[in-house]
Amino acid sequence: MTVRQRTFSGIKPTGVAHLGNYLGAMKRWVDEQDLHENIYCVVDLHGMTEPFDPATFLEERRRLFATLLAVGLDPARCILFVQSHVPEHAELCWVLNCVTPIGWLQRMTQFKDKSLRQRDREMISAGLLDYPVLMAADILLYDARLVPVGDDQKQHVELTRDIAMRFNRLFGETFVIPEPVIQEAGARIMGLDDPTKKMSKSDDASNRSIFLTDDPDVIRRKVMRAATDSGREVCLDETRPGIHNLVTIYHLVTQESIADIERRYEGQGYGTFKRDLGDAIVAQLEPIQRRFREFEGDPAMLDREMRRGAERAREVAGPVMERVRRVTGLA
Ligand code: TRP
Repeated sequence: MTVRQRTFSGIKPTGVAHLGNYLGAMKRWVDEQDLHENIYCVVDLHGMTEPFDPATFLEERRRLFATLLAVGLDPARCILFVQSHVPEHAELCWVLNCVTPIGWLQRMTQFKDKSLRQRDREMISAGLLDYPVLMAADILLYDARLVPVGDDQKQHVELTRDIAMRFNRLFGETFVIPEPVIQEAGARIMGLDDPTKKMSKSDDASNRSIFLTDDPDVIRRKVMRAATDSGREVCLDETRPGIHNLVTIYHLVTQESIADIERRYEGQGYGTFKRDLGDAIVAQLEPIQRRFREFEGDPAMLDREMRRGAERAREVAGPVMERVRRVTGLA
């Protein structure tokens, strides 16, 4: 018998969810729903670490929640909730801040990348520096053993381990030490227009991303226009990033083995392959889009599920926070 391990993961509610989010995270969450004891969180507080629009913030959070239900997360089989609905996240973040050296935070790759993009270093928000500590609070509050993430978040999970070990050393055994689980294929779905850049939520105008809400025609068109090289062999070749990315997507969408895909398209060129890939993506997204429209039109149901999810999350997080208060002398 396999032991069901406690698993925690989070996703940020900024922009419109795209195929990379779906294949890299959401689909895997759904596939592993019964494998572990899963807790999934819409991390709205993380969404505030960069400029955001208060007028659409609530709506984006609601849409992401509806999307997660639409892709197949089942509240009867996992805990799905919104981070800010469970105040223990912010509370534990504060306590962890007080045991986390800022040197550790300044060394984080994501912080360095994002702060390099800011013109005035003095104006970088403390929230951006603190991002990984809030993430550590998310994970440690649930005694999570496994943390499925894309490879760009691995460093943050390792930092979480360091913070947990330091805390345990200072205050006695309090936290479970978590481990990152990196999904190899699909951890990075690249842009269709430029396979050296990740598919992203923000490049609305370009051909970069397939959004989960795109119409079938739009999806097919984006795939047909995807950048590939001048070859015609459909195979998983690192030196040809365009076709590599498309074969990866095909494999993740259809679950067919790479070898089968390569064999099937042997000698057929990219055109046929792209047409089939477009159809496969449309077929996969069609039922998701139907459910999404249904859920989006039922705000009472969404509110009820968010409330229930937060109650169940608090049943786990509350006692862990109580443990933290006790060992630190807060209570
Ligand atoms: N930082 C993660 C990301 O970008 C999101 C996240 C927040 C998360 N808290 C988490 C992931 C806890 C795993 C566990 O993509």
